[in-house]
Amino acid sequence: MSLSSLHIKNLRNLAEVRIEPVSRLNIIYGANASGKTSLLEAIYLLGRAKSFRSSHLHILEGSGKGGFMVFGQVTGEMGQPQSLGIHYEGGKIHMRAAGQALTQTAELVKRLPLLLITPDSHKILTLGPRQRRRFIDWGVFHVEHDFMTAWRRYHRALRQRNASLRAPGRFVPGEVWDNELHEAAGQIDHFRRDYLQQFLPLLTYFVEKLLPARWDVSLRYLPGWAQDMTFREALARSLERDRLLGYTHKGPHRADVAIEAGGKPAQEHASGGQQKLLMCALYLAQAALFKARTQRQCVILLDDLPAELDTAHRRKLMELLYEIGVQVVVTTTDKDLLHIPQGAEARMFHVEHGAVIEQDATQNGV
Ligand SMILES: Nc1ncnc2c1ncn2[C@@H]1O[C@H](COP(=O)(O)OP(=O)(O)OP(=O)(O)O)[C@@H](O)[C@H]1O
Ligand SMILES: [Mg+2]
Repeated sequence: MSLSSLHIKNLRNLAEVRIEPVSRLNIIYGANASGKTSLLEAIYLLGRAKSFRSSHLHILEGSGKGGFMVFGQVTGEMGQPQSLGIHYEGGKIHMRAAGQALTQTAELVKRLPLLLITPDSHKILTLGPRQRRRFIDWGVFHVEHDFMTAWRRYHRALRQRNASLRAPGRFVPGEVWDNELHEAAGQIDHFRRDYLQQFLPLLTYFVEKLLPARWDVSLRYLPGWAQDMTFREALARSLERDRLLGYTHKGPHRADVAIEAGGKPAQEHASGGQQKLLMCALYLAQAALFKARTQRQCVILLDDLPAELDTAHRRKLMELLYEIGVQVVVTTTDKDLLHIPQGAEARMFHVEHGAVIEQDATQNGV
């Protein structure tokens, strides 16, 4: 699937924007503060019902206040369009798909699978486990139908265990949630391992394309408890600590994926640019695996890519993004920095003071 039309109303400096992206490469260019990131933010809102820049949606309301709206058509592989919409008003966000109100964000997420790359995304290598866990779980969620159910079961049981830990004298191992917790943890663990096994060869492929040959990249999955024991044993061992602090320290909710090169943390011997390239390889692998497993496109939103990448790497990256066959929406202040692959299905949009105009994409950049 791909986003075939987008209509934005009153979002930040975008008073009213209508565009028709192509199913492959879309380049959004314009001066600083023209509204490029806001346009990506609109697409992100359409697929996630939240912003990647602000946790308070009222901040996104344009000068007229009175809420904002993003409406889009998503065209599937068989050509059938489906409408999606989000509407923020009076402090509440409303989601719709094919004219029906949605109550679960997961329903929106499934319909418009998005990957977002910002100038900060390389921090996935250095920040805590949460970012890496979320990154992997995005893929697992989209390719394993039962992952969401296992995830919900696990978190329900985890909340019950935590509540029980906090109530003095009430904690009884073997309570009704205990089996749920272990079963769901086992499923989540299995899905993640399975996913990573398929993910690694793709990551290796993209790392070979973007980084020097000596970069022998590997992933070390840390399930959220010590690997020399079962989850049940780990929970039994951490019981005292869990009681003391009132929450569960071990489990899939604490999992991590260590990204290593030559057996050492990758970020330790990567330059700034190489960290960005490795991060891009992670996202390319994710999008390529999504496509291989679901036979669907996802959308990659790429905000301000060229920073820190040299001409040759920018060119290679644009080629790889095109090669994997997903829909790409990339922003830049200077369109000449972005190489459009030969014969590519591409469209350019110029953003100026919150207005977006479609341009001819035939004049290639570098
Ligand atoms: N709620 C709002 N209402 C109106 N304008 C806003 C609002 N929030 C932010 N803006 C303004 O919208 C403009 C566009 O911001 P945006 O971040 O989209 O620019 P950009 O094109 O990505 O710029 P850059 O190249 O610097 O990243 C800015 O001038 C910003 O101050
Ligand atoms: Mg920006």
